[in-house]
Amino acid sequence: MRIGIIGSGGIGQAFAKQVLNAGYEVIISNSRGAHSLGEVVKQLGGNVRPGSVEEAAASEVIFLAVPWIHLPSVAKQITNWSGKIVIDPINPVVPPDYKMAELHGRASSEIVQEMLPGAKLVKAFNTFTPQLLEASPIEGNGHRVLFYCGDDVSAKAIVKSIIDKIGFAGVDTGTLKEGALLQQYPSGPLPGLNLISL
Ligand SMILES: NC(=O)c1ccc[n+]([C@@H]2O[C@H](COP(=O)([O-])OP(=O)(O)OC[C@H]3O[C@@H](n4cnc5c(N)ncnc54)[C@H](OP(=O)(O)O)[C@@H]3O)[C@@H](O)[C@H]2O)c1
Repeated sequence: MRIGIIGSGGIGQAFAKQVLNAGYEVIISNSRGAHSLGEVVKQLGGNVRPGSVEEAAASEVIFLAVPWIHLPSVAKQITNWSGKIVIDPINPVVPPDYKMAELHGRASSEIVQEMLPGAKLVKAFNTFTPQLLEASPIEGNGHRVLFYCGDDVSAKAIVKSIIDKIGFAGVDTGTLKEGALLQQYPSGPLPGLNLISL
């Protein structure tokens, strides 16, 4: 399975390391274009190549690791999101002070879903720092717990298989409406927790 990563910052690279270790093929992209990703790809090593946002978005699974404020432009750049499995690790914070965006009580992922019509959205990989996300998911005798949620059962099963293959212990928090509110930073109770499933 090929995974396309949009956003090559801290979270995009940490996720890339884990899925490459797990044996997936990866295309990684950013706003500046494939030519800017030579060093990143060299550091990552393995079955990864740089690409355009469109090439990454043509993959079987898309990891959308861009800041909340840049989401609208990426959403518009891809003309058809229909049927695409998209992992949403986005936290709805706004610079310069990174306070929470005004969501009127909704989960940010519900808004992401509206911006990507027809996509099968799964919120996951948003509750850790890049350092913890790229660390070994095996600690002591257990596996680090990673939360995920979504409305499409088949997309959730595919994302769960990626979570399992990396070595995390996936915990399903439910639908986007319920689970994404729990996972959401900074308002939810789950971000920052480092739990080990024994
Ligand atoms: N950092 C954390 O602790 C943390 C934890 C959990 C979740 N998150 C979430 O993960 C997401 C990424 O965070 P980050 O810390 O990795 O951010 P980051 O280091 O600032 O990297 C952002 C990446 O997004 C790319 N980007 C921005 N606009 C784009 C566009 N229009 N098209 C394509 N790529 C675009 C940037 O491209 P360029 O490189 O070309 O500028 C950059 O590679 C955010 O939504 C954040 O809320 C972050």
